[in-house]
This record gives sequence, structure tokens and C-alpha cells, in this order.
Amino acid sequence: MNYNKKTVKDVDVAGKKVLLRCDFNVPMAKDASGVITDDKRIRAALPTIQYLLEQGAAVVACSHMGKPKGEVKPELSLKPVAARLSELLGKDVIMADDVVGPDAQAKAAALQPGQIMLLENTRFEPGETKNDPALAKAMADMAEVYVSDAFGAVHRAHASTAGVAEYLPAVSGFLIEKELQIIGGALANPKRPLVAILGGSKVSSKIGVINNLLEIADTIIIGGGMSYTFCAARGGKIGNSLLEEDWMDYANEMVKKAADKGVKLLLPVDTVCGDAFSPDAKQMVVDTDCIPDGWTGMDIGPETVKQYCEAVADAGTVIWNGPMGVFEFPAFAKGTEAVAEALSKTNAITIIGGGDSAAAVQQLGYADKMTHISTGGGASLEFMEGKELPGVACLLDK
Ligand code: 3PG
Repeated sequence: MNYNKKTVKDVDVAGKKVLLRCDFNVPMAKDASGVITDDKRIRAALPTIQYLLEQGAAVVACSHMGKPKGEVKPELSLKPVAARLSELLGKDVIMADDVVGPDAQAKAAALQPGQIMLLENTRFEPGETKNDPALAKAMADMAEVYVSDAFGAVHRAHASTAGVAEYLPAVSGFLIEKELQIIGGALANPKRPLVAILGGSKVSSKIGVINNLLEIADTIIIGGGMSYTFCAARGGKIGNSLLEEDWMDYANEMVKKAADKGVKLLLPVDTVCGDAFSPDAKQMVVDTDCIPDGWTGMDIGPETVKQYCEAVADAGTVIWNGPMGVFEFPAFAKGTEAVAEALSKTNAITIIGGGDSAAAVQQLGYADKMTHISTGGGASLEFMEGKELPGVACLLDK
């Protein structure tokens, strides 16, 4: 896939209406109060929005929120996002009552250079996730240029993330540009050694990433729940730890493939296990292959921490996707924290995939020590799998 895409700087937007796709799919308080609990994705869109407004564009912004499945669900309205965006920009954000209905059309038609409006949740329209050309055209008809800055949604071929590019000149905003440069650069031309740290609960959700990184990385470090399937596959005793029996053969194949290719594959040598899956479980450290019945592996052990930290110390680039243990329980967060600390001290380029790994780094207080924390969860995972991203492929090449 070509990552060298035209950006907002390559088109003239002055006096033009610009349809700007953002990823404003932000977490909201569960009590329907409309309180945004983390506005990082809104902040991440600000440089592009500010640039467009300064250039004299009239910005018709849009985004999805949650999964309303083509129905209008008031609790998934983007109104709270418009309010927060307005606070951050220090100017009015005109909110439309619909996506391509009469209200959106009228407000878009009246929009002046330097003004910004926000369409309602694009997934209130049944055609959005089906990439319906009629919906894409209706959105495109409100503007003259399409700018996508929704990195978190570039793995979706939806009307607002890809379809509209059929009808308008399509370029990236600064956020997508940065994600492509940093993650794309690390995959295509990494500063070596390239160390990939893969964790999280399931092998099955990381197969594509492991396959792709085995072709690129010098060292692959495995942690988290998925490591127990590797351990069981070589005949280890894993007690009550997470196991994906269907993926045991695959795990053994990956170990062999790594050896054949000369890629260093590091697996945990010891484990912190608990007598229950609970934050205050009784805990003990055992060799990874000897987890007793009734005990659950919940974090990497101290010897593993030492080996993993040594592996990242002299890395050129580190890509991290997935925590090393149940970091949500402080008693089992030490492995994830130690790896985060090691990353904060290395001189390597450090790239954190979105989702759980980003949450872990933030929760543990290391966010500002990393080179880049991706704003995409599924998107960064698919990027690291080497898959084509429809929301990037549809943009104009430089
Ligand atoms: C995300 O939160 O990862 C993006 O906004 C994409 O959301 P989706 O998984 O609902 O498509």
C-alpha cells in the first residue's frame, strides 16, 4: 500500500467547503449524562481543523460514534462532541440534526469560510456501514474537497471513510499523515533492531500481526494471556490460564518459523499467577511451564521482565501492541508497567498501538515518554498486519 498521500497542504481549500471525516468515537460516561470521559480523539483532530479554518475553508465535519446500526439513537448523538469541540476551538460549532437530511443540507449551504459545523453520527444512516454510493454522494454534495483525518476508522470501507472519495478530491489531514509516517515508516524502513512486543488475551486476534511482523522484526516478544497458548502448545502446564486450543498448532508453527527466519522470539519464562481472576487474588511466581491446577497466569514474572527490558534497551524501534498481563488489576500490572518504563528509558522510536496498550501506557503514566501513541485501535492493528486500509487507499497519491 502506498502511504505517500496528498495532504491538506497539497490542495487549495481557501473559500471552499471541506468535508472533514474525523474519528470522534470518544468514550462517554455510562450514565447517559453526555460527559466525554476522554477527549483525546477530539484534541487529535484540532491541528487539521485549525489549519482548515485559518485557510478560510468552511468545514463540514463528520464522524461515527458507537454502533447505532442505521438507527437514530439519541444516546449516540454527536452533540456532546460539538460542545467539547467548541470549547477546545474557542468558537461556535454548528450542530446539524441529521447527516444528509434537510437540516444538514441547509446548514452546510449557509456555512461561511472560517465556520465549522458537525453532521450527526454518520452511522444513524443505514447506508454508512454498507458504503452506500447514494449516501456517499449526498455527503460529498455538501462540499468541494474531502479531507480524512479519521485514522481510527481507516480500516472501515464506509460511505464517509472511503465512499465519498469517489466524488471529491480526497486528501489526508495531519493526524493520518503522522500515523502513516510513523507506523508506516517503522514497518517499511525501521531503525533496527526492530522489536515488536505483542500481548493481550488472544493469539487468534494477533495472528495477522504475528505473521506480518515475523517478516519484518528482529525480535518478537510475547506476553499477556496469549502467551499461555504458546506454553501449552509446547507441553507446559498452564493451570486455569487462558487457552485457545485451536491455535496451539499455529503457536508451534510460529516458534518454528521464527527460528527458521532467525527472528528472536521471546516467551515468558516465569509467571505471576493468582488463585482467582480477581484484583485481590492470592499470588505467587512460578516457572511458566509449571502453573498449578486452580491457578491462573495473570502477569509476566520478574525474570521475564528482566529479559524483556534488556531486549528493548538497545532497540532502534519498538512497536507495542497488547498488555503483558491483567494491568487493570494493580497487583498484576507490574509486568506491563516495567515494559512501559523500559520503553520510556530507551532511545528507540517507541510506537504504541491504540486500544488496550494505549490505555495501559496512559493509566500507568508513561504516555508523554513515547514517540507515538496511535489513535487507532483496530486500525493500527490492521496497519501492523500489513492489510490495505480502505480509508487510506482512497486518498490521492502524492
Ligand atoms: C475505534 O474506536 O476503534 C474506531 O472509532 C472504529 O470504531 P468501530 O470499531 O466501531 O468501527
